[in-house]
Amino acid sequence: MKSKRANVNIALLKYWGKKDQKINLPHQTSVSVTADIFYTRTNVEIDEKLIRDKVMLDGKELTGLQYTRVVQHLSTMREYFKRKEFCVVTSVNNVYVRAGYASSASSFAALTAAYVDAIGAKVNEKELSQIARLGSGSATRSIHGGFVVWHQGHDHESSFAEKLPIEWPEFRMLFTIIDPSVKRISSRIGMQITIEKAPSYDIYVRQSNDLVAPMIDALMKHEIDTVGRIAERSAELMRNVMLEAGLEYHTPMTQKVIQSIRSIRSKHRIPVYYTFDAGPNLILLTLDKHVDQVMKLLPDVKIQVSGVGGGISDADL
Ligand code: DP6
Repeated sequence: MKSKRANVNIALLKYWGKKDQKINLPHQTSVSVTADIFYTRTNVEIDEKLIRDKVMLDGKELTGLQYTRVVQHLSTMREYFKRKEFCVVTSVNNVYVRAGYASSASSFAALTAAYVDAIGAKVNEKELSQIARLGSGSATRSIHGGFVVWHQGHDHESSFAEKLPIEWPEFRMLFTIIDPSVKRISSRIGMQITIEKAPSYDIYVRQSNDLVAPMIDALMKHEIDTVGRIAERSAELMRNVMLEAGLEYHTPMTQKVIQSIRSIRSKHRIPVYYTFDAGPNLILLTLDKHVDQVMKLLPDVKIQVSGVGGGISDADL
């Protein structure tokens, strides 16, 4: 069966909060790198005889909240393309579901590309990223490969992702599995709670947008230390407003590994940095020549190494 493949992406500068929940319009511009080991493949078949959508994920028919989110995005796309037919969605996740890496980014990016393909619409990558955003914010960035900027914009038209002109094949992401339990509060709910409860949310937005130009500049120059330091700052700024709102996603183990990363950096002079999303697991950022040594220095941490991945592609299912 033919399908569209979308890879997971990791935000080096985080998206955490929406100005408009209906179209996932973010409060901040974010920057990401697409990974090559975790991805989703999805096929969509239009079926005029169906009276509702059918969604198969990893061989099981979806029900409940997960089904509703997929159907909501299909309905949004039907409205967008002025179509009526229901469809059968078949999707396979190649991700660490239990580690919280089953990102909605790859799922909604693949679903968007597969639907557009199924109806035969002619859509360029910019428009594809805008439509993917309607399903999940971070999916906007998974349309492209490599290093990507999602311009926050001020409306549907101006909020889209763009591939940055950066080739950096030596860049590596080390996905740690610190706590394999499924995250308790989703990003979607967590960011709303943060906006409502964190007194310094506005300051956070300004501080995080101030990081965009220096991050892109450092990526262009392949300066791993600057990229790593800014990525850590972005993640820590996000964590601070989460904590102000009473949200804690880290476990004591997360904090312990962060201390180890800092000491590897200072004692062994290895450029290795960390980032995290709304969960307890860290993603380490480094270069290929340091991967073996970092893994040796973290013998108790389960790690999966990823290089830089591509954008939406055709794949067999
Ligand atoms: C912490 O894209 O999952 O991973 O737009 O509500 O679907 P929705 O949220 P989602 O949020 C991702 C948040 C993050 C940071 C990031 O990827 O930029």
